[in-house]
Amino acid sequence: MTLSQNATTPKASQTTGRIVLGVTGGIAAYKSAILVRRLKEAGFDVRVVMTQGAQAFITPLTFQALSGNAVHTSLLDPAAEAGMGHIELARWADLILIAPASANTVARLAAGMSDDLLATLVLATKAPVWLAPAMNQQMWANALTQRNLQTLTDYGMQMIQPDAGEQACGDVGLGRMPEPEALAAQVADYFQAINSQPLGQSTHQSQILAGQHVVITAGPTREAIDPVRYVSNHSTGKMGFALAEACRDAGAKVTLIAGPVTLPTPQGIERIDISSAQELLAVCLKVVNQGCDIFIATAAVADYRAAEVSPHKIKKAGDELTIQLVKNPDIVATVAQQEKRPFMVGFAAETQHMEQYASSKLVSKKLDMIAVNDVSRSDIGFGSDQNAMTVFFAEHYHLSQQHLDKASKSKIAWQLVECIAKAQSAH
Ligand SMILES: Cc1cc2nc3c(=O)[nH]c(=O)nc-3n(C[C@H](O)[C@H](O)[C@H](O)COP(=O)(O)O)c2cc1C
Repeated sequence: MTLSQNATTPKASQTTGRIVLGVTGGIAAYKSAILVRRLKEAGFDVRVVMTQGAQAFITPLTFQALSGNAVHTSLLDPAAEAGMGHIELARWADLILIAPASANTVARLAAGMSDDLLATLVLATKAPVWLAPAMNQQMWANALTQRNLQTLTDYGMQMIQPDAGEQACGDVGLGRMPEPEALAAQVADYFQAINSQPLGQSTHQSQILAGQHVVITAGPTREAIDPVRYVSNHSTGKMGFALAEACRDAGAKVTLIAGPVTLPTPQGIERIDISSAQELLAVCLKVVNQGCDIFIATAAVADYRAAEVSPHKIKKAGDELTIQLVKNPDIVATVAQQEKRPFMVGFAAETQHMEQYASSKLVSKKLDMIAVNDVSRSDIGFGSDQNAMTVFFAEHYHLSQQHLDKASKSKIAWQLVECIAKAQSAH
């Protein structure tokens, strides 16, 4: 599943926040008009900042009408500066979202330029900055663009991966701006997570993982068949990302090893992106052996991969095609066998006999704790913002199983952190 296919407009009651929406000169600028509507429907206060390029594609008047606020287009404008000036706007924002972010703007930001209002705001704000790059697939693939994107990521900005598909120019490939509904849902998730952080979290009592290094795996893996095809699954990484935030809030240093997902990197978290199960294993072993106290395995690792990856696109021929698959490494079990074994937390998705499967996995994979979700329920799990789980502990902790009732993934994540801390102190 991709967010853009399934996301729905979030409910207004769940979210509030002040968003500066930066619109740059790309063909996807028309989608930003709908994005403003979706954000407004979700309860956000939106102020639009347009580059000069953006105004060649869509008029400020459209955004003014949709946002209900004056649109900001100029840096060196005495009248605008006398109203809500650029520093005030930079301080006002809870989030700066640039959608679409053109290759040109990405390059200007990566160079630290402040040659227009939007670029100046990005330098002047303390708010998180998210970019939804959108451009021709060749521009996206260009090494200079990729270098610039990496620079911005290294400086803490969050990239929303573009969708693949047919482009306005007729090309097919990566570079489409995700649909407005998907972007609005991501923004709403982010604010909902912030607003639903447990009470008392900032007190010393809740720093229950202080000083510990937590490594979390999240999202799906992609197992290549040929240069254009792969085997994967529907994992969105939401649970793993929520856990990363909860562990960070509990005082831990967090390394998040993520498969291909469209989620922005939470603030203050080191993220390493991987694609295949074998890459995931290599990164996990490296990070764990450098020193890790808690390992949380939420990634939905493909059980099998193609025995041989074709170096060229497999051509359509005949009515049937057989691809031989071979078993992928068991990442959790391998990490648990390491000499410096961290506290191991596994996840399991089951449809029946939950307790029986959980107990046998705890033993066979040498886990300390396992969280099982019932994937026969359609209202929770993959892609959903909610989850419900049952947590089982290894026998030597003498802790009884814990049911975590249906709640937002961020709330469940915090309860899982409490379970980990409980087990650590019980041992
Ligand atoms: C019809 C047309 C469509 C364009 N679409 C894109 C696009 O989708 N993404 C992009 O990065 N640049 C696109 N460009 C190029 C940008 O408009 C150009 O680089 C401009 O300088 C961007 O300015 P800005 O980043 O300050 O808004 C397009 C240009 C034209 C003429």
